[in-house]
Amino acid sequence: MKNILLTGGTGFIGSHIFIQLIKCGYYITIIDSNINSSEKVIKRISDMSELTPFFDIKKFKFYKGDIRNEILLNDIFLSAKEQNNEIDAVIHLAGLKAVRESKIKPLEYWESNVSGSIILFKVMQKFNCYNFIFSSSATIYSSDGTGFFDEDTIIKPINPYGNTKAAIEQILRDLFDSSPNLWRIACLRYFNPIGAHPSGNVCEDPKGIPNNIFPVLLKVASREIDCLEVFGNDWETPDGTGIRDYVHVLDIADGHIMVLKYLMKNPPKVLNLNLGTGVGKSVMELINTFEEVNQIKINYVFSNRREGDIPRSVANIDLAKKLIGWDPKNKLADMCKDGWRSKLNNQ
Ligand code: UFG
Repeated sequence: MKNILLTGGTGFIGSHIFIQLIKCGYYITIIDSNINSSEKVIKRISDMSELTPFFDIKKFKFYKGDIRNEILLNDIFLSAKEQNNEIDAVIHLAGLKAVRESKIKPLEYWESNVSGSIILFKVMQKFNCYNFIFSSSATIYSSDGTGFFDEDTIIKPINPYGNTKAAIEQILRDLFDSSPNLWRIACLRYFNPIGAHPSGNVCEDPKGIPNNIFPVLLKVASREIDCLEVFGNDWETPDGTGIRDYVHVLDIADGHIMVLKYLMKNPPKVLNLNLGTGVGKSVMELINTFEEVNQIKINYVFSNRREGDIPRSVANIDLAKKLIGWDPKNKLADMCKDGWRSKLNNQ
């Protein structure tokens, strides 16, 4: 069975991919600096009763560290090789991800995301590992159009975070062109992953004040924050609030496994793939659904539009459906239910 290196494996999306990789029987190696996550999630996941038949401690290794630490990365690949259990593929999620922060600290974003990725690619090359899945983002797309994005939409990010994601995708294309018969690469452009594993064992719990709507919503529901600010009710949308393509984090995790299998059985290529549901929901629809399925009142207030926001961002997922059989199962109600359950479980 293959050994997969998961960078950022204790984060929100990483920990859900970790669960699905365990279920599929892979050997898993995680590297995470834990600057925005906690190592505790590993224990919570390994204790999950539904994973008992699958989890084998001998098939798992955790390294606490930064991907910019080339010596550590080298050691990880070398020690796997020495145990005849080479790293076959890398799923790369490690990086900084807060849009607003990226405007204040652009160098940190370029260094962590881009320099970190370059070091990772160098070490991969050194150990002849050419299978790579990258956690990219819909934020790289130009927002000039209709708000419905297919993979051929012009790439034109508007903040340093998006610029780093677009730059890494470009590096990956250059790498592929340098040895087109070697690299199998997928850039997965996530839309708005929310929710949590239905067991309630894993929770999105960003350190500091959250930026994204779902962690804010959870904190308003738990009364840690008084009120949700809805950024604008005068957008050109049916109810005036912004529309996004919310997708269950477990569906996103499954997408990675499907892409991994697809890459391994197909000729080398660079694949760009949207991961969303193809369905847009407004902020008000999200709040109403959350209130209804969890029977909780959410305090909210309309405020001004947030700088850099767009009215609508919805994925065209035809390519993912066609190539990897992507069929996200969970609805907004499931995302709201599962997210709240995990919040309650992780208080
Ligand atoms: N929103 C609020 N109040 C909040 C936070 C958000 O009303 O406190 C609104 C936003 O205006 C937007 C929607 O909720 O209409 C979603 O906002 P998020 O911040 O949760 O997500 P974005 O769509 O702005 O951005 C997210 C990620 C990016 C990623 C992008 C991909 O933050 O990293 O999705 O489309 F790139």
